[in-house]
Amino acid sequence: PLDVRVVFDRALRVPPIAASRPDEQGRRVFELQARPGDSDFGHGATRTWGYNGAYLGPTLRAKRGEAVAVNVRNALGETTTVHWHGMHLPAAMDGGPHHPIAPGGSFQAAWTVDQPAATLWYHPHPSERTETQVYRGLAGLFIVDDDEPAQRALPHDYGVDDIPVLVQDKQFDGDQLSTGERFGSDIGVLGDEILVNGTPRAYLDVRSELVRLRLVNASTARIYNFGLADGRPFALVGTDGGLLDRPYMTDHVRLSVGERAEIVVALEPGERLTLRSEQALGGDLESKFNGGRDAFDILQLRAGASLTPATLPKTLVATPRLDPERAAQTRSFVFQGREISGRGMDMSRADAVVVKDTIEVWNVANGHDTPHSFHIHDVQFQVLLVDGRAPPPELSGWKDTVFLAPKQRYRVIARFADYADPATAYMFHCHVLRHEDEGMMGQFVVVEPGQ
Ligand code: C2O
Ligand code: CU
Repeated sequence: PLDVRVVFDRALRVPPIAASRPDEQGRRVFELQARPGDSDFGHGATRTWGYNGAYLGPTLRAKRGEAVAVNVRNALGETTTVHWHGMHLPAAMDGGPHHPIAPGGSFQAAWTVDQPAATLWYHPHPSERTETQVYRGLAGLFIVDDDEPAQRALPHDYGVDDIPVLVQDKQFDGDQLSTGERFGSDIGVLGDEILVNGTPRAYLDVRSELVRLRLVNASTARIYNFGLADGRPFALVGTDGGLLDRPYMTDHVRLSVGERAEIVVALEPGERLTLRSEQALGGDLESKFNGGRDAFDILQLRAGASLTPATLPKTLVATPRLDPERAAQTRSFVFQGREISGRGMDMSRADAVVVKDTIEVWNVANGHDTPHSFHIHDVQFQVLLVDGRAPPPELSGWKDTVFLAPKQRYRVIARFADYADPATAYMFHCHVLRHEDEGMMGQFVVVEPGQ
């Protein structure tokens, strides 16, 4: 088995918190400019894309209840969009393929943040160009805050004991990022170098006994199975859409593209501990779809000689379970090849019409032996069943993206609380970026009752 160790020699870059200003309507206004630049990943000057910089973007941060506006300008040579992954917002602000920003153009997304504190992210979502644009560097975090006491009981000092860990794999061809087919598998480009927040071979100096890592799989295809090198357990405290009811001790958490997990790691003074990714799929699937590598070193945590004491809260947030008995509608979708229920992407067709303020149950099956992942815009859902069984802790909280293991069936439930707009669609799709670019995507609209 291939066991890849790296020498950690670069301090982890932590994306800056995006500057914002209040406008006359009291909104928090951010500016993002998508533009090209040069990045140093240790291969010479690599051409990359970023928001307000050469690679990735700043961390946007806003509190539940706040009105925000993001002005996006496109200084790239091609059309882009910016989608707020995991955000509950009107379809017209969603930044999917329906909201193209031409070169030199701009787009304003404005909405009121109304969902629990969570680690969300933003990325381009243009028709057929999502994979290459994300791969070149367009991605960033959007952290939602709220007043839940658990948020402050957990490590919460951004960049100190609360650290974004945006993970991407890259393949270099000389000094340039390679997007060549020869490096790809059926799920897309698989690189053999790992960047965390754009830093290769990254280490992080830690000064407290507990560190919270906000893990984001912002790769284009690779599936990770995060764990610690010595196998020690860590606390899983949050998933895509917010905190869990309590911390769950585990030794691995698997994230497909687009999924997030918040974990809390305990350290001893002076030690060095490596966050790794072990086999995510296993056996044949691993070599066929995930590059066949057994383990990747991701990030080294370097504990100081003395650490600030910290304790993990016993409980986090109480989240009511959505009741399938109250579902107004049940739908079923099969993911297969590059189609969802036998259909490819067609912008002129709504695959589902959902009545505002109703609960729906969606049965999503992976009909084939290829891994896929299921993402739905606008809502956070709860997983009811995985192949007929109750979900494990990592699928027990709010999710917007779920890994679809080959041949498995998932049942999820969501409330489509508001934002009726029969004229503007939200997307649901496979979040393997190549698959969505190849049309593995459907649309739904939310309408007023009786519309
Ligand atoms: Cu992360 Cu439709 O997107
Ligand atoms: Cu797929």
